[in-house]
Amino acid sequence: MADEALRSQVRQWIAEAPRIAVLTGAGMSAESGVPTFRDALTGLWARFNPEELATETAFRAHPQRVWAWYAHRRAALVQVAPNAGHLALAGFALRHPGRLTLITQNVDDLHQRAGLVDTIALHGSLLDDRWLDPPRTCCHIEPIQDGEPPSCPVCGNLRRPSVVWFGESLPSAALAAAEAAAHDCDLMLVVGTSGVVYPAAGLAFTAHQHGARVAIINPEPSDLDPVADVCLRELAAQSLPPLLETS
Ligand code: OAD
Repeated sequence: MADEALRSQVRQWIAEAPRIAVLTGAGMSAESGVPTFRDALTGLWARFNPEELATETAFRAHPQRVWAWYAHRRAALVQVAPNAGHLALAGFALRHPGRLTLITQNVDDLHQRAGLVDTIALHGSLLDDRWLDPPRTCCHIEPIQDGEPPSCPVCGNLRRPSVVWFGESLPSAALAAAEAAAHDCDLMLVVGTSGVVYPAAGLAFTAHQHGARVAIINPEPSDLDPVADVCLRELAAQSLPPLLETS
């Protein structure tokens, strides 16, 4: 099918599907100016070693280095805004209460800032932090020392970014809600993810296996293409508004 025919097919599926699940990844926010992870040259994991920055072991070994990297990413979020794709998804959800479930791997809060406050954030949020070890009764946060992660002055417990690091489990309530949405949806839109990180990527397989149509929006091939009914080789912020705003 030609591109326009594929686009109108997806538009029709969106108009008709009683339950739509949307799974987004870093490409969703690329046009807002947030770097992806695996794009050659510009992706974060092309420039930084995840084992040195995105594991509990790395944080325990070099808390200041890891905290500083997350603080830098957190500060960068102040400069960015939801793009037309985030706004189109939020607008659709507002016009069609209860039809769209947004599941994101992103930690940038841009879906929530666009108005989708019910977004299922599988990998946590860059804007939050939490205790590294289970908090004791003594635990309280002292004013932040320059560049250091805040810590409890009594026992030394450290605050850490509230994101999911490699080797860690996803928040169980978020994962359960995402799995239910993938299982029950009639259409899944997969936007801007390479589909290499599990269990998030597995949600597209769940949707497919339970009879949902799967449409991918990504300028490049992804690991989820085999379960897609349609792949639109497009950019999220350009593609989503015309697909969603007519419904
Ligand atoms: P990746 O960096 O692995 O993949 C980003 C995808 O977005 C690629 O397939 C790009 O082709 C695509 N892309 C780039 N620009 C786009 C655009 N404007 N519109 C649509 N697509 C675009 O990012 P994720 O798949 O999100 O985990 O990575 C998954 C997880 O790996 C992340 O959540 C993160 C990382 O390690 C944690 O932080 C726990």
